[in-house]
Amino acid sequence: MFKGFGRVVAVVVVAAGLGAAGAQAQDRMVEGEMAGEAVKYRVNVMRATGAHMGAIAAILQGKVENKGDLAAHGASLDGLAGMFDDLFPKGTGEPASRLRPAFFEDAEQVAGIIEALKAASGKLAAAAAAGDMAGVGQNLGAMGQQCGACHKQYRAPQS
Ligand code: HEC
Repeated sequence: MFKGFGRVVAVVVVAAGLGAAGAQAQDRMVEGEMAGEAVKYRVNVMRATGAHMGAIAAILQGKVENKGDLAAHGASLDGLAGMFDDLFPKGTGEPASRLRPAFFEDAEQVAGIIEALKAASGKLAAAAAAGDMAGVGQNLGAMGQQCGACHKQYRAPQS
């Protein structure tokens, strides 16, 4: 188990390194049809993330008996969280999206939210791999806080 944990830590460290490159990718620009596709892609990744979190919550609450799936959900979530650095290219704040324009002015604050999200998903994945249910629950909550922080500030109400 210790060996497995080491591998997870290594993955988290590598992911953190990639995060820096990803933050630069956030600066790219999309236009026209590509902007619409980028918004759809963003929503798909968000929904996938929410779906894994919901599945984990059901396992932790004992509503389902699929504990054996926890490690895979954790690894999936960590992979998904790593995508957030490049989910908001410039040009995707048009009326077709609920992304508030202020998002692009608050780069530092946004980066902080995404860093915290990735830190929590990394810890969640490690806890899930180690069968540490309390650790999974704690970091699920920590992830949820970052989802909420961004939605509250940068997601416009449904029109
Ligand atoms: C950095 C900002 C940010 C973070 C972090 C974030 N979201 Fe989002 N989320 C958004 C925005 C903006 C939208 C609206 C998408 C659009 O219209 O472009 C959205 C949309 C969604 C949707 C789609 C709902 C709909 O509009 O149909 C889901 C589901 C969702 N987020 C779940 C999550 C979950 C779960 C997390 C945490 C793991 C999360 N989000 C983290 C900004 C964020």
